[in-house]
Amino acid sequence: MAGGAAVAPSASAGKRQDYPGGLTLFVFMACMVAATGGLIFGYDIGISGGVTSMDPFLSRFFPSVYRKQAESADGGNQYCKFDSELLTLFTSSLYVAALVASLFAASVTRAAGRKWSMFAGGVTFLAGCALNGAAVNVAMLILGRVLLGVGVGFANQSVPLMITLGILIANLINYGTAKIAGGWGWRLSLGLAAVPAAIITVGSLFLPDTPNSLLERGRPEEAKRMLQRVRGTDDVADEYDDLVAAGEASRAVTHPWRDIRQRRYRPQLVMAVAIPLFQQLTGINVIMFYAPVLFKTLGFGGTASLMSAVITGLVNLVSTLVSVFTVDRAGRRALFLEGGAQMLAAQVAVGALIGAKFGWSGVATVPAGYAAATVVVMCVYVAGFAWSWGPLGWLVPSEVMPLEVRPAGQSITVAVNMLMTFAVAQAFLPMLCRLKFVLFFFFAACVVVMTLFIALFLPETKGVPIEDMAGVWKTHWYWKRFVNDGDDTDGHGVDIEMGCVGEAKK
Ligand code: BGC
Repeated sequence: MAGGAAVAPSASAGKRQDYPGGLTLFVFMACMVAATGGLIFGYDIGISGGVTSMDPFLSRFFPSVYRKQAESADGGNQYCKFDSELLTLFTSSLYVAALVASLFAASVTRAAGRKWSMFAGGVTFLAGCALNGAAVNVAMLILGRVLLGVGVGFANQSVPLMITLGILIANLINYGTAKIAGGWGWRLSLGLAAVPAAIITVGSLFLPDTPNSLLERGRPEEAKRMLQRVRGTDDVADEYDDLVAAGEASRAVTHPWRDIRQRRYRPQLVMAVAIPLFQQLTGINVIMFYAPVLFKTLGFGGTASLMSAVITGLVNLVSTLVSVFTVDRAGRRALFLEGGAQMLAAQVAVGALIGAKFGWSGVATVPAGYAAATVVVMCVYVAGFAWSWGPLGWLVPSEVMPLEVRPAGQSITVAVNMLMTFAVAQAFLPMLCRLKFVLFFFFAACVVVMTLFIALFLPETKGVPIEDMAGVWKTHWYWKRFVNDGDDTDGHGVDIEMGCVGEAKK
């Protein structure tokens, strides 16, 4: 899903290599367009909850939810006021579409090149924003979200920092547009996604084909010329040779889907499934999607709810930065384990705070100080996620995947992530209505399981080049029984980006 823009994969060692040449306009633009893919993904995550909490939007598209909300405004069961399958479908439909599209996107990219698959993503985004911004009925809203999902499948780069920036921008925009008199602010919120969509569309048109993709399509001379242009120097022989070797190695990968099912790739297969599954079972998207709705459930007014979402969005962004800067020093396991403990404590506290006030009946008025304390605890939870499972949920499955099974492993990770994002988006509001405050204890229990999983099954991967990973599994107390001596699980990979420039494994 993502590749380092300024860091080329080295075919010989899978390590970061410095090649001559600087930051040319091409590299800058490629980075911008790729980063915008992550940004728009985040924007779509953050925007739906905010518009859902706006009365003019609710009364127009989901009148029954609006009535229920109005009735429970002074007393009444708060847990169930947003419980509507249609309403959750507005949020969740995007992720089913993204899941299906990401399966096709890989073949389109292989046949037509990255440039055209980004362009296809950009155009679909634009169509989705237009439908959403101009919606007059629920069908237009949901179709628009589906098109946005297709765009995500084509253009998303899982760049965790850009995702969090996109979420924060969406939170800020919702805060601003909710104040627009006339009640059409939600149109602006949904329509403004057209700005990054236009950057992707126009940017991809200006981007030439990448040297990689030209090589892949049997045009070596053009690839070399392009590499010289991209790097801004004629001295590209080493990098070109590495690209050719990487291309050959990648062509030698013939049966990634068959191979990943072999016993010796069991650790990688388990990580490709378990890590995105657990990432979503942290419950993070309950906050990212539904923060404004959740805060309204707690009795906040519209503006305070949207403001609180801005606060959690800001904490999310800043804490992801903490991860970017510490992950290669502290190591993956330390961040996972600390983040897990922090999320656990915060979820138990949120459950207790909500349970103590709302009990089973869901009827309560919450004093301002009490509600503020709940927001603070939620921020503690978001910070714990954002420096652990948020970025590492993408980084770790990528960095343990050797080349021969990489295409399959990466697709599985993306598919499980999208599927689980859909499931959580769809299930949260009905579950809140039925399980009430206990829902937060449910997520806390999931965090206990995933933290134990990391403690027992994930070896430290900090600073381990991909070709040395086989040795790491072979000495692991559990995985060694699957990875037989003599197996060659060497491989090389393009590394996932934490920021814009690849945080490639050294
Ligand atoms: C997750 C998203 C989540 C985001 C929050 C990402 O790593 O994949 O589902 O919304 O983090 O920042």
